[in-house]
Amino acid sequence: MCYNKLMNSILFVCLGNICRSPAAEGILLHLAGKLQPPIVIYVESCGLGDWHTGNLPDERMRKAAELRGIVLTSRAQAFRKEFFDTFDYILAADNKVLHQLQAWADKANQKAKIHLMSTFGTAFKGAEIPDPYYGEHGQFELVMDMLEDACRGLLEHLKEKG
Ligand code: 4NP
Repeated sequence: MCYNKLMNSILFVCLGNICRSPAAEGILLHLAGKLQPPIVIYVESCGLGDWHTGNLPDERMRKAAELRGIVLTSRAQAFRKEFFDTFDYILAADNKVLHQLQAWADKANQKAKIHLMSTFGTAFKGAEIPDPYYGEHGQFELVMDMLEDACRGLLEHLKEKG
């Protein structure tokens, strides 16, 4: 893995790593690349489970992203405990994911990295990102809206932090 400790590293986590967290990864990279000056960040996503390992994001999620000019290309992977030390921010899609990550973290400094994805957002600050897997198209649009808000806020936070 190419990883430089000088840059902020962000890990998005959901259940399956085929809907919410790969969308968050794609949105954050897309928005960061448009900033002037650009912000250099390292971003990955993963799922609590390994059911979809190696798969592209769900086609419905990819379509919703493509409607906004964002191509999702990541491949699903499961969370590994070493991620607690690799990443600066570990951002969970909902409270179920948040609580599982907190239970897996052994050290206080690891627990301190874990937040909800929406923590830095404005319109949806503190909200859980709904699991759209069994939902209808509108849910994927809502997930995109919520993640865009979350990612814009996260970039503002990173810019302020310097
Ligand atoms: P995600 O959505 O956690 O946003 O990737 C899901 C994807 C797959 C499943 C559940 C949620 N699943 O049960 O396979």
